[in-house]
Amino acid sequence: VKEPLQDRFGRIKRKLRLSLTDRCNFRCRYCMPEHPQWLPGRELMNREELLRLATLFVDNGIEELRLTGGEPLLRRDVVACVAALSGLRERGLKRLSMTTNGTRLPELLDDLIEAGLDDLNISLDAVDEGRFQALTGRRLAPVLAGIEKARDSGLPVKLNAVLIQGYNDDQILPLAHWAKVRGLPLRFIEYMPLDEPGRWREDQVVSEARILATLADHYRIQARARGAAPATEYRLDDDYTVGVISTVTKPFCADCDRLRLTANGHLYTCLFARQGHDLLTPLRGGESEARLRHRIEQRVWYKDAGYSATPGPVDRPITMHGMGG
Ligand code: GTP
Ligand code: 5AD
Ligand code: SF4
Repeated sequence: VKEPLQDRFGRIKRKLRLSLTDRCNFRCRYCMPEHPQWLPGRELMNREELLRLATLFVDNGIEELRLTGGEPLLRRDVVACVAALSGLRERGLKRLSMTTNGTRLPELLDDLIEAGLDDLNISLDAVDEGRFQALTGRRLAPVLAGIEKARDSGLPVKLNAVLIQGYNDDQILPLAHWAKVRGLPLRFIEYMPLDEPGRWREDQVVSEARILATLADHYRIQARARGAAPATEYRLDDDYTVGVISTVTKPFCADCDRLRLTANGHLYTCLFARQGHDLLTPLRGGESEARLRHRIEQRVWYKDAGYSATPGPVDRPITMHGMGG
């Protein structure tokens, strides 16, 4: 094992988010531009390239991989990707996870578990059909079917709800109730400025403080220590835990242990970074492993301080669907 990856602020990297595709069958307004431009197929990492780059990261101390998108389950060889990456446990990988919109879980989940997937986060922004459609552009029922399938499988599942004022801020209590009854952990997420440039407005962010005030009307709430970043956890009525991911009002950049690799093999050292660093072109050009490793170490070392240092709208061509969240 080589030295773990570390940046100039002393933050050690343990987690890599790997985007398998920038495509998605949903159109969540907080994630995608009105007219998304997909990456051309030849620019996407094939499975072998994905595995080679992931191996470099795991050999440099990355312990957890989270597969993202777009929608990762749209990738045709997703099960084979999971199986290949699961093989990295021999080299130090401890957890292989996925974040998905859930719609393809009914067909794929058994194979994903068999291939070595450890846990799932599924997006669910509303339990009201109208609210759900206004936010995601798609129907709710297929997502609920996916969540049910995941819950029945026994795999650890968490639900993610991004809140936007005027769209689904009235869903805080319905979502909490829905998830609590089913015993599914839920995290509310503050809306981050990573969608179509110019769309995000600060007054659309539903803050952690507002979320807690709303929950406090109906539940006894007890703060818990911050769990694994990025969520702060709260106990509701002693028998259920919700999390809040409050990047906007309470950034956790100082503890950030994450890196991201886009589906075309660009390394983004921060969710808010203005630019990525292309690793795929040198890989395809036959660059040695030692030089690729050096590139990664250099980029990680110069990682930005983070959102807490420069809050506000982020103006750049890549949006959340290309970045993997
Ligand atoms: P676990 O905590 O390991 O379950 O995963 P996660 O919450 O990091 O992953 P998930 O894909 O479910 O992301 C939930 C939300 O956290 C999304 O809105 C992500 O964009 C956000 N998030 C994940 N990583 C980071 C990060 O490094 N910085 C910030 N600001 N937000 C992040
Ligand atoms: N702000 C906060 N979270 C977002 N996600 C996508 N776009 C945004 C945004 N602008 C979330 C999705 C998914 C995760 C990967 O990122 O809801 O749960
Ligand atoms: Fe697709 Fe996820 Fe983005 Fe929604 S948040 S459009 S489901 S990638």
